Amino acid sequence: MERLQKVIANNGYCSRRKAEELIQNGNVKVNGNIITELGVKVSDKDEITINGNVLNKEQKEYYLLYKPRGIITSTKDEKNRKTVVDLIPTKTRIYPVGRLDYDTSGILLLTNDGALTNALIHPSNMIDKVYVAKVKGFVLANHLKLLSSGIMIDGKKTSKGKVKLKKYDKKANTSIVELTIHEGRNHQVKKMFEAIGYEVLKLKRERIGFLDLSGLKSGEYRRLSPKEVKILYNDVIKKN
Ligand code: URA
Repeated sequence: MERLQKVIANNGYCSRRKAEELIQNGNVKVNGNIITELGVKVSDKDEITINGNVLNKEQKEYYLLYKPRGIITSTKDEKNRKTVVDLIPTKTRIYPVGRLDYDTSGILLLTNDGALTNALIHPSNMIDKVYVAKVKGFVLANHLKLLSSGIMIDGKKTSKGKVKLKKYDKKANTSIVELTIHEGRNHQVKKMFEAIGYEVLKLKRERIGFLDLSGLKSGEYRRLSPKEVKILYNDVIKKN
């Protein structure tokens, strides 16, 4: 049994807040009865209607995409550019979990499971995300330390992470740095480097928790197995 507003939001109909509004305004019925209280719990067997339309309790779908550079992480774009959702042929209304910048490549999860999405993007979620950044110049040891111990961006210190200098190309004067962080702030990695005076030339996310890009080429995707979904759920529930 779950709260009515949560069931509505988790089925991708709208946000939890909007669902609460719909309930309080008398737009929602459960088994034919108008419900205006927020505490009511419902099960899978209950029929929920919103403004007379039956809430479609969709099968959950979970995808792992190797996002290429030059694609927007969104469900639609006002300029009609291709989005990550266009790379996965499904009739289900899936959406990306968090975001990668237009010019960032790498692992991205997409689903219609609102509960898992919310848990994964919650700031308290400690799931590691591993990024590999190519930056201009040689990244000094004290700067690597700053990146891992926490650095001020947008007036707030980033939480502790792990940082490794993987390679320095003397000829091109570029460094390859691996960063493991668990937050997902806007342009976080680029801003972290910017804060200590380095420009990120290329960025790729290689891992989210136990999931990586093995077996996929850029632009390819695969479904998560039920076992992988279960492990993800366990990981976020444990850590939230
Ligand atoms: N950090 C960034 O700066 N960009 C991304 O796309 C992801 C993390």
